Formats: sequence, structure tokens, C-alpha cells
Amino acid sequence: MPFENPISLVDADPQGTVAAWGASRTVPHPFVAKVDPSTIKNLLCAARNEGYTLVILDCPPHAVAGTATLLAAADHIVMPCQPTMPDLAATQRAMLLTVASGKPFSLVINRAPAHAREVTQAQQALESAGVVSPVTIGDRRAFSRALTDSLAVTEFGREDEKAALEVVRYWNWLDQHMQMEDSKWQLKEAA
Ligand SMILES: Nc1ncnc2c1ncn2[C@@H]1O[C@H](COP(=O)(O)OP(=O)(O)OP(=O)(O)O)[C@@H](O)[C@H]1O
Ligand SMILES: [Mg+2]
Repeated sequence: MPFENPISLVDADPQGTVAAWGASRTVPHPFVAKVDPSTIKNLLCAARNEGYTLVILDCPPHAVAGTATLLAAADHIVMPCQPTMPDLAATQRAMLLTVASGKPFSLVINRAPAHAREVTQAQQALESAGVVSPVTIGDRRAFSRALTDSLAVTEFGREDEKAALEVVRYWNWLDQHMQMEDSKWQLKEAA
């Protein structure tokens, strides 16, 4: 089991895709909740008291009212970006809010087409803005299939193994990266 348990997935996007995915699952984990930005601090506090060790918060795609409150509540902000010109431009705009939050953040390329030079170019462009995951997530049918079937790509078994392996490799990188950021933060606090 690559993920820490218990984990919770919290949907703060008014579109509610994560909440709908959670509601149609037959297993009770991860615990999925919906939250209004104004109550995020209370929810995180309750989650900590309940023993949750990781809360993954899905934010709205644009800087809507409340996004700054959500970012302020986070320990680490992940910015996924597709290797296309419009997505890179959108990430650059979203970056203003992320940087303003003062929180550690990292970027990851999502929906990368196989063997495309756009991926390397996007990776280089993003590196000038912040830390970029060395693991990219490929453009794979398993992701939309997982959404339709109320599953995670790690729950398909051997059939769609590539997506699962990639996600696990990405999580391992992110987990280590966040721990490193955390110890730097603690050193700064102690100084
Ligand atoms: N790596 C991937 N490969 C293939 N399809 C993907 C991948 N990642 C996401 N998708 C698909 O793209 C659609 C949107 O995904 P997702 O909701 O994660 O993106 P988003 O940027 O958060 O969208 P939104 O702006 O609507 O919140 C979904 O149908 C999802 O299955
Ligand atoms: Mg989204």
C-alpha cells in the first residue's frame, strides 16, 4: 500500500467532481468530503483530531473567491499543468496566487503525450517558476475510465498498470519532497 492511511480527499471545487466520485464508490476509503472555503480550517482541525494524516484538497481551477483561503490552509500546493500553451499560460496566472500564499509548492506535468518534445519544453518552462516533479503523468485512458468507474487508477489491477505505476512513482517523489520542505521549514522556525 503506497499511500498513508487514513487519508481524506476534500472537494473545494464547486463543480463537485471529486465529491460525486466519492459518493458513487462502494468502499469507504478514502473518506471524501465537500467543503466551502470559509470552513476549511475547521475541517482540517476535525480531520487532525480524527487521526487523518493526509488531506488532499481539490481546489477550483480558477482564482475564484475563497481560493486564497484554501491555499492559506495548505502545507503544500501542487500545481498540475498540461504541456500545452494555454495550460502553461493558465499556470503562470495561477502562480501569482500560489506565490502570494507564501506556501511551498511544486509543479507536475499531467496528460503528457508519449515521446513528445513539448513535454521537455514545458518542463523547462516550468522549472523557471518552481520545483517540477521529475515524474510526469502520461495522457492515459485509465484516468477517465477511473472517473467513470468510481475507482482510482491504482485499483484496476494489471490491466492499466502503467497509470498506477506512474501515480505511485509521483506520490513517492511528492511525499519525499514535502518531508524535505517540512524539515527546512522547521529549521527556519527554530533559527
Ligand atoms: N493524465 C491524464 N490522462 C488522461 N486523462 C486525464 C488525465 N488527467 C486528467 N484526465 C481527464 O481530464 C478530465 C479533467 O480532469 P481533472 O478534473 O483532473 O482536471 P482539472 O484540471 O482539475 O479540471 P477542472 O478544471 O474541470 O477542475 C477528466 O475527464 C480526467 O479523466
Ligand atoms: Mg479540478
